[in-house]
Order: sequence, then C-alpha cells, then structure tokens
Amino acid sequence: MDIQKQELLYEGKAKKVYKTTDPDLYWVEYKDDATAFDGKKKGTIMNKGILNNKISTHFFNLLESKGIPTHLVKQVNDREQIVKAAKIIMVEVVVRNIAAGSLSKRIGLPEGTMLPRTVLEFYYKDDALGDPLINEYHIYALNLATPEQVQTISSIALQVNDILREYLKDKKIDLIDFKLEFGIHKGEVILADEISPDTCRFWDVETKEKLDKDRFRRDLGNVEEAYREVLRRLTGESI
Ligand code: TMP
Ligand code: ASP
Repeated sequence: MDIQKQELLYEGKAKKVYKTTDPDLYWVEYKDDATAFDGKKKGTIMNKGILNNKISTHFFNLLESKGIPTHLVKQVNDREQIVKAAKIIMVEVVVRNIAAGSLSKRIGLPEGTMLPRTVLEFYYKDDALGDPLINEYHIYALNLATPEQVQTISSIALQVNDILREYLKDKKIDLIDFKLEFGIHKGEVILADEISPDTCRFWDVETKEKLDKDRFRRDLGNVEEAYREVLRRLTGESI
C-alpha cells in the first residue's frame, strides 16, 4: 500500500488536508500557524505543527486501543498523518470538567471551579457566525446530524473524557476541558480532527500552570515550551 499525497483539498487555520491516491484516505499536514478569537489574533507557535501531530497521534492511538473509532490511520512523518476520509459533522463538541474560558464568562463560575457533573456543549462550526453555542434542537433545525448521531457523538465524547482524564492524571495533568470533532466515514461516526494543546485545556496538577493554547490566547509567554512539556510528559520525547 503506497499512498501518495495529491492536491490540496482544504486549508484550515491549523492544518492542510490533501487528497491521496486512495479515495478513502486523506493526508493531513499540521501547521505552525496559531489563531484565536475567530482568527482575529494571529501568530506562529514554533514547531507547533510537529508537536501537535505527535501529541494528537499519541492520543488517537490511545483512544483506538480503548475501542474508540477514530480517523487516524498512521503518522507519516513529523508534520503529517494519513487519516480516513471522513465528512466532518459541522458541530464542535466541548466537554468540561472544571469551569474555564467561555463557560466562566457565560455563566459566571470562576475559572478553576470543579463542576459537579461533566458539562457537554455543542457549537455550530461556522466561522462567519463565530461558532455559536447551540443545543440539540438547533442541530436538528440546521440538519447537522441525526438524533442517533448526536447520541453516538455524546457517548463517545464522554468516553474520551474518562479515558483522557485518567491517563493524564498519571502524567500530572488535569484535563480542564477539550473540543472534539466528528466525521462520517462509510456511514460510521468516527472521531476526527485533533486532540492537542490547541484544543484542550491542560493544567499542571500541582502548580496549576497552563500547558495549552491559553498561553497564546492570553499572552502568557512560553507557549512552545508548554507544548513541548506536554509531549515530554506523554511520550518522554523532547524535540
Ligand atoms: P472555550 O472555553 O473558549 O469555549 O473553549 C473550550 C475548549 O475548546 C478549550 O479546551 C479550547 C477548545 N477550543 C477549540 O479547540 N477551538 C476553538 O475555536 C475554541 C473557541 C475552543
Ligand atoms: N482556533 C480558534 C480561532 O482561531 C479559536 C481558539 O482556539 O481560541 O478562532
């Protein structure tokens, strides 16, 4: 099986997606570009593409090993992966264990407040609208997914939370919250996109130091160092 990268299909804020010689597979390239606040803040995080490719591959392999269906086929090199060609469901799924970010802003719970129950949120993946918070009824109004798919997505999201939380605890990282995206491949809902410091909030268990993209969003400094630290804790690798 010798898959070749072909023409660019789509360029997002953090990744490029290419077609391949196999119509069932895409080729993903992780970029160093960083954006926040609907692209209003732009920058570069040195080596982010390499770090996020390695970190996301590690998480997806872990999840696959626990029975979660994902799009990952394999990591090809430092910046690239081959994934199953899924049609992305235009809903971003956010899972929260501890209040932070937009939840704290929206409902007034101070950052760091332990949530008595896991919070699950849906956002409509639409840049022009600024990715608004939506509920299940809005998903059906917009025809973004079927009730059965929402059920599957929600169940997988909560399972991913359980797996990652436990795994990260061992690495002395608290999983505050994270965002997932799903796709449909051959009629099946699978986990797509990435899981990385771009898409999660990771806090050091002891010091509560932020080891994620909030360092970029909030100009806290040492952004690349934080991403490197996450990779080091997960795999022992220093790049
Ligand atoms: P929020 O508190 O800003 O809503 O973010 C919740 C989680 O989702 C956090 O871990 C960061 C992640 N996230 C993304 O991956 N992409 C986004 O565009 C936003 C706004 C958040
Ligand atoms: N990636 C998002 C954007 O550029 C926001 C974020 O991650 O904060 O809009």
